[in-house]
Amino acid sequence: MTNSEFILEMRNISKEFPGVKALDNVTLKVRPATVHAIMGENGAGKSTLMKCLFGIYQPDAGEIILDGRKVDIRNSKEALDLGISMIHQELLPVRQRSVMENLWLGRFPKKRYGIFEFVDEAKMYRDTQEILSKFNIDVKPTELMKNLSASKIQFIEITKAVSYNAKIIIMDEPTSSLTENEVVQLFDLIGKLKKQGVAIIYISHRIDEIFKIADELTIMRDGKVVGTWATHELTEDMIISKMVGREMTSRFPKREATPGEVILRVENLTSANPASFRNVSFELRKGEILGIGGLVGSQRTELVESIFGLRPIASGKIFLNGKEVVIRSPIDAKKHGIALLTEERRSTGIFPDLNIIENTTMASLTNYTGRFMWINDRKRRKDTESMVNLLRIKTPTLRSLIKNLSGGNQQKVLLARWLLTSPEILILDEPTRGIDVGAKYEIYTIMNELTKQGKGIIMISSEMPELLGMADRIMVMCEGYLSGILDRNEATEEKIMRLASKYAK
Ligand SMILES: Nc1ncnc2c1ncn2[C@@H]1O[C@H](COP(=O)(O)OP(=O)(O)OP(=O)(O)O)[C@@H](O)[C@H]1O
Ligand SMILES: [Mg+2]
Repeated sequence: MTNSEFILEMRNISKEFPGVKALDNVTLKVRPATVHAIMGENGAGKSTLMKCLFGIYQPDAGEIILDGRKVDIRNSKEALDLGISMIHQELLPVRQRSVMENLWLGRFPKKRYGIFEFVDEAKMYRDTQEILSKFNIDVKPTELMKNLSASKIQFIEITKAVSYNAKIIIMDEPTSSLTENEVVQLFDLIGKLKKQGVAIIYISHRIDEIFKIADELTIMRDGKVVGTWATHELTEDMIISKMVGREMTSRFPKREATPGEVILRVENLTSANPASFRNVSFELRKGEILGIGGLVGSQRTELVESIFGLRPIASGKIFLNGKEVVIRSPIDAKKHGIALLTEERRSTGIFPDLNIIENTTMASLTNYTGRFMWINDRKRRKDTESMVNLLRIKTPTLRSLIKNLSGGNQQKVLLARWLLTSPEILILDEPTRGIDVGAKYEIYTIMNELTKQGKGIIMISSEMPELLGMADRIMVMCEGYLSGILDRNEATEEKIMRLASKYAK
């Protein structure tokens, strides 16, 4: 042990993938008992750097100094043994196991009877309960992981990291599946960890979060470090321009379209699932962006998935351009010109082992098939290329596998897929989750463009500024009920919050 000023130094790290220099001579220095944030555009190399630290990738060059000592981290187990834990950008817990099994996986407490060794379930239960209550997490140790909400799973994963007595915890976009209330809870927990001397490396695309919890910020661009600053030396505008490498005057483009006639009318829609939404009625106009706000459990996703034919409804009516329609499947929905960009890109959207062209044109294949099932490959490539340029998707080639793209770039491919279907009604569920500020602005601009062409957009978002900045009207849901609709000029964060918790105890 030396008395180094830094608990961690990653020095001159480089890492190359075929066709991409993901990290180019990156140096990162982290102090103990601080939150060190990393920001940067999609594909800047943030996750790759952390995977080098956690032993998932081996850097091509550079060294890692932990507590003043040079270390070699060959795999994740070695990282954990060295006191480094990581909460992944895409969560991968063991779903069919219980909370306590997931927590102690690979290191179950044992007891011996003579030559026999048993898992000490009682101890496992006690230890789990102790840890959960320490962090105010209201879950039973025996609950199955698959029964937990995305946010609970997130908290369990963090608890797990803590239980390894980690000195350094890496959080890669931890709030991407949390709502505002849960984010507060997470920040609370981060505060507690800091007091215990833990260093937290925190990756996020949300600048407001950085100002709330980060002590220092390192900004990356194109695989290089732009610089490291104490957060209080920076302003929002400074962060944005350092990240995108140019000045950006505003986070939202001006809304230009004026809503026209009603394109979609939903009347008393009630889910077939009694625990889900009921009696929801609303209208969407041509050229309008209708935002949907609410907390986890407000059934927003279930509502739009039902309109899209993914989930059965018990009663209620849907009218398109004044005519009643019955939508029993996504195929029906697509025929009627409705597109849905889902929230869970891993499970419902991405085909990891297919390439960018295939993933992008998946929903519009009929545009490319001619007589005799002949596929027009040139046109597919051309359309994909124009989407890659339009959304600035960062990929070495159009034939790269989508699983090798950074998280935010995968999200952009999915958006491209639905844009290519030229929908009349575009439903976006958390469309900019995990997307960097520059690209967000581009997506907002595209939304503007689409509404100018008379398309209607429904956008679910848990980011208040996004709802307030982009929606013409904001409809708020609470526990399956529509609790109110706010006009753009009367909406405030506070009003949305109040409606979002209207029926809550
Ligand atoms: N296993 C891999 N194979 C090939 N290329 C990869 C692989 N992992 C990452 N890359 C590439 O390395 C670059 C950096 O990706 P990385 O995931 O680190 O970005 P990021 O900063 O975390 O972005 P995001 O904000 O979108 O999550 C990207 O161009 C990505 O396509
Ligand atoms: Mg990433």
